[in-house]
Amino acid sequence: MAVEPSAWITRFGPAVASGGAVLDVACGGGRHTRWFAARGHPVTAVDRDLCGMADLVDDERIELVAHDLEDGSPWPLPDRTFAAVVVTNYLWRPILADVVRSVGPGGWLLYETFAAGNERFGHPTNPEFLLRPGELLEAVHGGFRVVAYEDVIVDQPRPAAVQRIAATRDHGRGEHHS
Ligand SMILES: C[S@@+](CC[C@H](N)C(=O)[O-])C[C@H]1O[C@@H](n2cnc3c(N)ncnc32)[C@H](O)[C@@H]1O
Repeated sequence: MAVEPSAWITRFGPAVASGGAVLDVACGGGRHTRWFAARGHPVTAVDRDLCGMADLVDDERIELVAHDLEDGSPWPLPDRTFAAVVVTNYLWRPILADVVRSVGPGGWLLYETFAAGNERFGHPTNPEFLLRPGELLEAVHGGFRVVAYEDVIVDQPRPAAVQRIAATRDHGRGEHHS
């Protein structure tokens, strides 16, 4: 699993409100949890497997939430919104609306994961785990300003088809409008 933070996240992360709370969905070893915490953000990190976060258990800046996001149980953070919601290298469509809803007014959705076409390069190949063309744009349609969006083939850290978005929710709107 990657250790260095994604260049997409470090490019837009500085735009997140100073000291604003960040949600790292399917955090893995916490490369983005660690990056945001080091910049002074409180971070809530969710994953079904938090073994890569053991060194952060006593870190008061970080809230660790062990939760299976795919077992059909309710979204673990109802009624909470964040200054940024970060998702990288992870897709589970049934929770995509919850992810978007978790972005507070003025907050950011920073999302980067594998896209249709990745089958040529390796895993993931299952369409369930690959974004369809334009899918992240559709997810934030209405109530967000899309600052950047790409649907590209990258060479680094390995050849892959990747879709990514940086979008900020309009102030004064707490809900997704379509
Ligand atoms: C490829 S890793 C990406 C980790 C991190 N976002 C990153 O980019 O470094 C995918 C992560 O999704 C988590 N994951 C997979 N299925 C999950 C589930 N059902 N519920 C919660 N997390 C899950 C895994 O434990 C793993 O940490």
